[in-house]
Amino acid sequence: MSDQTPQGTTVPDAAFQPQIFKGLAGVPVDYTAISKVNPETNSLLYRGYPVQELAASVTFEEVAYLLWHGELPDDAQLAEFEELERRHRGLDHEVKRIVDELPLTAHPMDVVRTAVSVIGASDPATPDDSRESNLEKSIRLFAKLPSIVSYDQRRRHELEFVEPRLDLGYSANFLWQTFGEAPELEVVNAFDTSMILYAEHSFNASTFTARVIASTLSDLYSAVTGAIGALKGPLHGGANEAVMHAFDEIGTGEGSAARATAWLDAALAEKRKIMGFGHRVYKNGDSRVPTMRDALERMVEHYHRPDLLELYVALEEGMAERKGIKPNLDYPAGPVYHLMGFDTETFTPLFVASRVTGWTAHVMEQLASNALIRPLSVYNGPDERHVPPKGNASGEPAA
Ligand code: COA
Repeated sequence: MSDQTPQGTTVPDAAFQPQIFKGLAGVPVDYTAISKVNPETNSLLYRGYPVQELAASVTFEEVAYLLWHGELPDDAQLAEFEELERRHRGLDHEVKRIVDELPLTAHPMDVVRTAVSVIGASDPATPDDSRESNLEKSIRLFAKLPSIVSYDQRRRHELEFVEPRLDLGYSANFLWQTFGEAPELEVVNAFDTSMILYAEHSFNASTFTARVIASTLSDLYSAVTGAIGALKGPLHGGANEAVMHAFDEIGTGEGSAARATAWLDAALAEKRKIMGFGHRVYKNGDSRVPTMRDALERMVEHYHRPDLLELYVALEEGMAERKGIKPNLDYPAGPVYHLMGFDTETFTPLFVASRVTGWTAHVMEQLASNALIRPLSVYNGPDERHVPPKGNASGEPAA
């Protein structure tokens, strides 16, 4: 038995025992043509292309184009797209001024979220929800995020903003703006791989947040700002930072592998979640990990840090033996960013710089066939009751 609301929604009556899908686990809520996560075959496709193939053969700029347009660019389209991206790399004085006013104690994710909000508040096109306008906004955010992230890391070290170099591709320029030195090709390639792997992952928590906000016909900047808030949590994007905190707790350097096993036993005995392990969708390993792990091995060799790989392997094996749980992408990504010289708190903002491509593709897809996202809840609070009268009509307390 059920009642129909004027909109036709079915409302369960008291005799009906509804099934609750806690955390929406296992509930498909819409179609998407942007990416396909397949836990059975352990694969991830962006617009049909396996992500490993993309990481091996195209740049992050080409992946961004693919996510937004549905097809890889040809040479002319890529040249035009790169020119546009490079043109938008700078940061307005207003954004820098507001970032400068934020305390150095603010988490970099709060800084990035604020900077995106400022860009939205200053853009006269913010209310325009047409696909054309949203595509322009997406390219602008994509181009400006490296400036925001690198500026924030540098100001924490009392270093000046480094102007973007228009002769460099996205990843090389990102490293240049962060460290003020021309990066080596091997490092650029590993960084580009991480950006490609982080770009998109269907209806994860932050992407779903972006879609919920877009579904109210709010604006793209609001959707991205909300998504950044969702990504910050350690159960989601914040895990790449948390992995490095765990490595620091264990202590890198000689003997790290032996210490890792003892640390893991103690952490599991305290029922702690081990960050960088487990996944809501993949239960048999994250499809992106082998590619990122290859990049980690290359970086370990490049920076002569075999101890870091020993620690990595010890924890990975320990988790497999004790819990049967495999690493997710954040596990190899954290140490890769550390080796490159990023501050640990900057890791999740790097994820933002990449995932903004997926979020904005989803905002545009949501708007193309929109339905307000508004699930039901099942009330389990007190039965209807009434406020007791406070006094008589003259305002005197009741006798
Ligand atoms: N460390 C220790 N135990 C873990 C674990 C981890 N990282 N991930 C899952 N588990 C255990 C849980 O304790 C639970 O055990 P129980 O049944 O004995 O209580 C079981 O595995 C199921 O975990 P649950 O949290 O219910 O699975 P989920 O699908 O809701 O969670 C995550 C997925 C990602 C939230 C979870 O694996 C996690 O918190 N991982 C660490 C954070 C992280 O790396 N996040 C990035 C995700 S890409």
